[in-house]
Amino acid sequence: TVRTRKQIIDHERVASYAFAFDIDGVIVRGPETIPEARDALRMLNGDNKYNIKVPYIFITNGGGRSEKARCRDLSKRLNITVTEDQVIQGHTPMKDLVPVYKNVLVVGGMLDSCRKVAQDYGFKNVYIPLDIMKWNPSVTPYYQLSDEEKAVARDVDFSKVPIDAILVFADSRNWAADQQIILEILLSKNGVMGTVAKDPSENKVGLYFAHSDFVWATDYGLSRYGMGALQVSIAALYQEHTGRELQVTRFGKPQRGTFRFAEKVLSNWRRNTLSEHVEQLNLEDAEASDSPLSDSEDEATDTEGAPLEQTDKLVLDLPPASTVYFVGDTPESDIRFANSHDSSWYSILVKTGVFQGNTTPKYQPKKICENVLEAVKFAIEREH
Ligand code: G3P
Ligand code: MG
Repeated sequence: TVRTRKQIIDHERVASYAFAFDIDGVIVRGPETIPEARDALRMLNGDNKYNIKVPYIFITNGGGRSEKARCRDLSKRLNITVTEDQVIQGHTPMKDLVPVYKNVLVVGGMLDSCRKVAQDYGFKNVYIPLDIMKWNPSVTPYYQLSDEEKAVARDVDFSKVPIDAILVFADSRNWAADQQIILEILLSKNGVMGTVAKDPSENKVGLYFAHSDFVWATDYGLSRYGMGALQVSIAALYQEHTGRELQVTRFGKPQRGTFRFAEKVLSNWRRNTLSEHVEQLNLEDAEASDSPLSDSEDEATDTEGAPLEQTDKLVLDLPPASTVYFVGDTPESDIRFANSHDSSWYSILVKTGVFQGNTTPKYQPKKICENVLEAVKFAIEREH
């Protein structure tokens, strides 16, 4: 059977469109998995009336653990296989800072989980607030380290260690202690604890946040403060001290840098998805060519009729996705993200997270759906 690139794509039913999903408030709510999410992803994996497989990735502002751990959690919750190539967390693009800074203070998350993530990214000297609180407990007068925290804290003399950058990877579990330490370092001489710069503008410590969500959806009935609220608090304290506006660099949605990063991840993932099919088809061709050729049997050809080389992957000239459906629950991050950077992204707002359907979204989505399954059904019907 002659198979052209187009037929292989059509035959194999790999969609020209794609999906990207926010996680908190769309797929999960805290420890709970949103029930419709399983069926939604199953549909995209091919269980739909068109037998079409639709590539998808996840873009969350969440973090605090490795992308590998996040994939394991999603795979278990959704009963599918999610790989690291499909997942972007708030701090994932912070890998680009590895060559820039030597001593980094990583803030947020449980115990030393974020230290491990930063080390996996390649940061050499990674410190956490627990190390500082172990070095000198009077840094945070009202808080004593638990035995568990003492066990993960490192012995470091911070009077001799200049912090070059503060990376807030995940939500702080101790706002008082973390803010006390962050402000001290931002007002210090060269990032050394226990010192004060004569002029705050001399302080060159970098300050990076994995996202700016003011609130996020958990398993509680009302939204909870996120990293964006922490930024407001830190900026207010810094303003109070210095009369100056705090300079920060933000990652995550809705930032443009995150969008560019996501487009690369999606393009690679679509390539993966398609090349799996091409591998499979080439394998079938190879097996078929070992069997006596019937006269109707021809080798696969490309659209111009030239024979498809065994190594010729269909995906070499993979065009960008015709439409990327982005499903989110927070207008200020998800809808703004999908609406701001490329018209081929189609924003869908669901009512299972921060947005509940009883307010006017600050950023207008192209479609509002009850939940992620309705969003997937709507998009597939829209495409066929
Ligand atoms: O801490 C994560 C939260 O702010 C939002 O995560 O998945 O909705 O982008 P997500
Ligand atoms: Mg969300």
